[in-house]
Amino acid sequence: MSDVKITIIDRNGTEHTVDAPTDMSMNIMELVRAYELAEEGTIGICGGMAMCASCQCYVLNEDEITLPEKNPDEEAMLWEAFNVQENSRLGCQIHITNEIDGLKVQLAPES
Ligand code: FES
Repeated sequence: MSDVKITIIDRNGTEHTVDAPTDMSMNIMELVRAYELAEEGTIGICGGMAMCASCQCYVLNEDEITLPEKNPDEEAMLWEAFNVQENSRLGCQIHITNEIDGLKVQLAPES
């Protein structure tokens, strides 16, 4: 069992630093759900298929943590989504690995 620390700012502006397991094939969307940091039914609507953007988040420390490039599905979904910023990513496409230890994200508003 190995954990990394991920900081998530919820939609009310509250910051939570949580332990995230690297050995359970989880992604950031699932992490938010596991810790109940967003209201049930408002995140992960497509089940992590990069088809709903309900898991959109803003990466706040891009200069410290290098995330893998967006795949074409993520690019396409973010193209259509609301409230998209330069640092937007889909939480369901960010897998929890040792490389993202210390990542800080803010959940995008519900759209
Ligand atoms: Fe639907 Fe991430 S859960 S795009």
